[in-house]
Amino acid sequence: MNVQTMLATQAQQALAHQSGDYVSKDVDEQAYIQELMDLNGLETVYRFDIGKNTDGVTPLIRGMLTLPELADTVTRNIVEYPDNHFRHLKRQIAMRHGIDPQWLAFGAGLESVIDQICRAVIEPDDKALIPVPNFSVFEDMSRRCGAEILPVSTSPPDYRWTAMTTRKIVEHLHRDLPKVIWISNPVNPTGQYLPLSVINEVCENALHTGTLVVVDEAYGEYADRDDAVVSASRLLQEHPHLMVLRTFSKMYALPSARVGYLMCSTPELLRAVDAFRPTFPLPWSSLHTAQIAIMDDPYVCACRRRTEQRRKRLLPELESITGIVPISSQTNTVMFRHRSLPARELADRLAAKGFLTANLNNVTGIENRGFLRMTVRSGAENALFVKALAAVAN
Ligand SMILES: Cc1ncc(COP(=O)(O)O)c(C=O)c1O
Repeated sequence: MNVQTMLATQAQQALAHQSGDYVSKDVDEQAYIQELMDLNGLETVYRFDIGKNTDGVTPLIRGMLTLPELADTVTRNIVEYPDNHFRHLKRQIAMRHGIDPQWLAFGAGLESVIDQICRAVIEPDDKALIPVPNFSVFEDMSRRCGAEILPVSTSPPDYRWTAMTTRKIVEHLHRDLPKVIWISNPVNPTGQYLPLSVINEVCENALHTGTLVVVDEAYGEYADRDDAVVSASRLLQEHPHLMVLRTFSKMYALPSARVGYLMCSTPELLRAVDAFRPTFPLPWSSLHTAQIAIMDDPYVCACRRRTEQRRKRLLPELESITGIVPISSQTNTVMFRHRSLPARELADRLAAKGFLTANLNNVTGIENRGFLRMTVRSGAENALFVKALAAVAN
């Protein structure tokens, strides 16, 4: 095999490896949904598999789209390259987190930011520590850059981070000297929230071992308070090896805008990650919509409260279905399993009724345990889901 063929084969293998439930490039979702509708005579397929705010964007964005001067604004901006220093949005985010605007970098969604971090810091044979279950992209992208994955298990039934988890992580840090530790908070897929004291303890230990701590707060807005952002960004000043990530894809319901950001107080680290982004990752329209979305705090607070109420109603309803075991959550997603049905079987039965769920059967730490993840949607849609689940669960 010549060198080019070998590299192509290696790249193919690396790219093809996908450990968890993340969207697969090989699956044409629209075609699959159409097929489901045709096969089962469905009029609607509900996406309970995507973890974004299904109440939609702030009304401020609708307002912006109906402005009479919109056509002129679009025409003026679309013919120029976008601002690749993101000045306006940087100032807004910095103010929200109480940080220096210089501590921010952007990427085309957090998927891209995670990829950039891996490329910037991971070298072949480095180790990446991941409490599991977790967002599978951490694992896939670290491995793609040559890292060995060190999963740290959490315990059934609810896979909560306990004092034992911290102890195991600290042991691994000192014994294996990992290059990076990946933590999502709240955790995807469990929906559980880790107090900042836990993150702080991990950071203190990681400082001694030279390990980069990445805290992915994709669902962070679901754990914020109405009067304050509750983010590991508060720890950035004292922890130069900490990176905190947030996105506009979840609570702000702008997954198509692809706006993800990274906060870090160490200029060298920030520059290294930024070096791996395309020169213009965010189109003008994405920056513009994110700038509007972040202004509407009352909308975010209302969505957070609504989600909490719906989740409180949903959990006992799921529990009341024979065979179904849900896990309590602090976000807009809920993980559940059936005591005897495999995940694939349950997911297929739900899909045939028009309800898509995320199948977590291959997620490290909960492999073959039968878990699916559903999104908390509107009260009426959740009721339809519960009814369908009850029908297919026996
Ligand atoms: C924990 C976590 N991080 C990052 C992402 C990716 O977000 P984005 O849409 O910004 O790429 C997701 C989306 O599923 C997620 O759950």
